[in-house]
Amino acid sequence: MTAPSTTTPASTTAACEAACPLHDRRSFLSKAFLASVGAVLLDACGDGQIGVTGPQAGALPEPLVVTLSAFPALAAVGGIARVDGGGSRPIAVVRTATDTYVAVTMICTHAGYRPIEIVSGRFICPNHGAEFSATGGWTGGQRTSDLRQYTVALDTVAGTITIT
Ligand code: FES
Repeated sequence: MTAPSTTTPASTTAACEAACPLHDRRSFLSKAFLASVGAVLLDACGDGQIGVTGPQAGALPEPLVVTLSAFPALAAVGGIARVDGGGSRPIAVVRTATDTYVAVTMICTHAGYRPIEIVSGRFICPNHGAEFSATGGWTGGQRTSDLRQYTVALDTVAGTITIT
């Protein structure tokens, strides 16, 4: 007849902890916490991407001078026009007041789609549906950050703005 096993639950736990770090209570709890934080972040972002993952708008390599009369849409407050001339760094300007303009990139902050579209006084990215206000604030659709704004200097005498 075989003698019954003398293994006690305590010795089983000690052996298991030595062999498997997940059985250490503190380690297990901290890993569970990190996993839950990661799950929350992924859920909050929708597709697991946070902020810009594609090409960045970046600083302009040189100032962009825009003659306002060349863009009829900017004649009225609230008007928006793409002003970069169709390059790889698309920029839009919105007239926010009589003598105030805001310039924003037309490169989506989600995954870098360019150019995003100007639709009814705001921006929409056709790639995954991010929506932005006229001044570039994220307003809905695919979660992402605001569009980059550039500095704008108005020259009322010349009728130009310089974007940097
Ligand atoms: S690239 Fe995904 S919403 Fe614009």
